[in-house]
Amino acid sequence: MTDPLVEMRGVRKQFVTRHVLALDEETRKRRFYKRNLVDAAMDVSFAIQPGEIFGLLGPNGAGKTTTVKMISGLVKPDAGQVFVAGMDVERKRKQILRQVGVVLEGTRTSLWPLTPLENLMYYGNLKNVRGAVLHDRAHDLLDFIGLQDKKNIQVRRLSRGQKQKLAICIALIADPRVLLLDEPTTGLDVQSSRAIKDRIIEMTHGQGRAVLVTTHDMHVAQELCDRVGIINKGRLVACKPMSELLELFSEHVFVFKLDAPAGTGPLRGLPGVLSAEEEAAGGENSLVVSLATDEAERSAGFYAVMRALEGMGRRVLAVQQRQQNLESVFLRITGQPLDADGDAGPEDPEQE
Ligand SMILES: Nc1ncnc2c1ncn2[C@@H]1O[C@H](COP(=O)(O)OP(=O)(O)OP(=O)(O)O)[C@@H](O)[C@H]1O
Ligand SMILES: [Mg+2]
Repeated sequence: MTDPLVEMRGVRKQFVTRHVLALDEETRKRRFYKRNLVDAAMDVSFAIQPGEIFGLLGPNGAGKTTTVKMISGLVKPDAGQVFVAGMDVERKRKQILRQVGVVLEGTRTSLWPLTPLENLMYYGNLKNVRGAVLHDRAHDLLDFIGLQDKKNIQVRRLSRGQKQKLAICIALIADPRVLLLDEPTTGLDVQSSRAIKDRIIEMTHGQGRAVLVTTHDMHVAQELCDRVGIINKGRLVACKPMSELLELFSEHVFVFKLDAPAGTGPLRGLPGVLSAEEEAAGGENSLVVSLATDEAERSAGFYAVMRALEGMGRRVLAVQQRQQNLESVFLRITGQPLDADGDAGPEDPEQE
């Protein structure tokens, strides 16, 4: 196996957050704080190989951006080590800056009064890329990402998707081996999102870069990533090749809508049936049945359920296939619902 381009070993990061409590009625001052410790990384370890797109998938506040910042040297871990191209990020910060291109979520990397081409020239110079190399690379990148016709328009006149494409070009101007993309397609339309995903795949698989993509969208991960780490409250709860993660999705869940309630007992032992639950919502009687991954078993299970329901004298009004989503995969892996709140519970207020 080749050496990884990115590696995190037992990385921990905690943030202290201070919550401002209600205004003090008498003094009209905000003097009360509630101190919370937030775990943004709890013993996180993973590696990314050259030519690999690694996805970091997790809910809001899980620690995705913090991880990106630690790899690019913007945030210092409390414990553990981060390596880029075999170099310790903490000790070789300067060398690493040239190896890593980063696009952070929602940040204004580009200079808006300048044009895309001027931005690339500016950032290239800043990163010691000069002359003909810079000129050619800037044009190649604009071509590659599909911004050539916008190269001489002020950035502030570009659309959000076009600005995002430019941010990716800027991250690539020093030809880094490692590319860190924090939520690269959030807020983009289907077309721009598609274009960016295609470019990311091309420059990773075709050019041997190592790419980290963060997202809270399972579909983005599914289309883009070779391997996925699922992160929740700073913990990497699963780290699997995409194909294995997809197996968790390939379990088929069907919702049978019935004319009257039906017990689940007779369904449970049926071949091909993994589980059956009753669900009463909006005055409807539904049975939620998960069937086997194997196609033949699943098909047998499906018809066995239909027959069993008929045997119970129930009429099936409709059958729907329930989409598996991040939430359900999360539930299966962690045994807990996906929790968007990474903060600890309330603690004693302290006076400042
Ligand atoms: N500078 C900071 N000071 C205090 N707390 C922070 C700081 N940066 C991040 N946090 C906390 O660390 C946790 C992880 O934040 P992070 O930005 O890494 O999450 P994320 O996975 O990127 O979420 P999102 O999907 O919303 O972008 C959050 O609970 C956040 O409040
Ligand atoms: Mg984030």
